[in-house]
Amino acid sequence: MAGPSPDKEFRLMVAPLQGLTEAVWRSAHYEMFGREQGDVEYFTPFIRVEKGQVRARDLRDYISLFNAGMMLTPQIIFKDAEEWRMLVDALAEAGAERIDMNMGCPFVPQVRKGRGAGMLCRRDRLQEIAEAMRPYADAIEFSVKMRLGIDDPTQALDLSEIINEMPLRHVVVHPRTAKAQYKGALNLAEMDDFASRLRHPVIFNGEVKSPSEIEALASKYAGVMAGRGLLARPSLFAEYRRGTELSTQEIEDAYLNLLKNVSAALAGILCGPSQLRDKLKPYWEYAPSTLDKKIVKAGKKQGII
Ligand SMILES: Cc1cc2nc3c(=O)[nH]c(=O)nc-3n(C[C@H](O)[C@H](O)[C@H](O)COP(=O)(O)O)c2cc1C
Repeated sequence: MAGPSPDKEFRLMVAPLQGLTEAVWRSAHYEMFGREQGDVEYFTPFIRVEKGQVRARDLRDYISLFNAGMMLTPQIIFKDAEEWRMLVDALAEAGAERIDMNMGCPFVPQVRKGRGAGMLCRRDRLQEIAEAMRPYADAIEFSVKMRLGIDDPTQALDLSEIINEMPLRHVVVHPRTAKAQYKGALNLAEMDDFASRLRHPVIFNGEVKSPSEIEALASKYAGVMAGRGLLARPSLFAEYRRGTELSTQEIEDAYLNLLKNVSAALAGILCGPSQLRDKLKPYWEYAPSTLDKKIVKAGKKQGII
């Protein structure tokens, strides 16, 4: 690894992961790596409308005191301009100056209703949202997080004009279709094609797991967003900024220490060991691949560390 990118503007972002990167994890991660990793933007998992109202639990995650100090952008998921406005107004009232728009969630019931990746085949609704953004653009900076299509990785090409007209800070692209969910080969040729048509800075998101992979992307994109790679290797961005990689043992220790800190913070909030166990279990799915299988197995079973 040749050291950090000479381009200081190269942006590093922590992907939103529902059930995993909520306020407690973000806070524990920021506490451990905030200083070393420098400027890093965190995103909330998507905030949604439920039964005609902005979900209070989602809003609480955004306004939580655990978020102190970090650069945090709330993300919304919406099916039309009405839902979009409801969410943006609620977040503006909560003090948000940046809002990220989810156009990539592959969860079928949401996609069918036109939310998340479902927005990728609804040009009319997207056009309406692009217009709805104008009066807000002075007060709020918007960004988009999207995929390349629903079942065809060239579908997003049709949207490039509308997206280019939107006032955006950046567009994060996960180079897969919704149908591919989170697995399989990345559609890199289609990604190149789509990125070349966007006038906004493009952020690469997908399977970024090591500092050298970030390094390789730094010449091509305005930034990277990492999700599962950062769960398994929480020091990823700190290592990249420092220009030296940690040993396998150090990476495993960092993973376990972060999980211990998350567990300690959750223990003070949740009601009893079974809630704590359920909340911690998903993190074990993203343990470093080198970690002793017995430790991972016990973790998956007991949750608690
Ligand atoms: C369990 C899980 C929950 C996710 N929740 C969200 C979410 O709330 N909002 C969003 O934009 N993406 C969500 N994603 C997608 C990730 O942000 C990211 O785009 C995806 O995992 C690919 O990046 P990675 O390979 O670095 O993990 C989720 C992914 C997973 C696996």
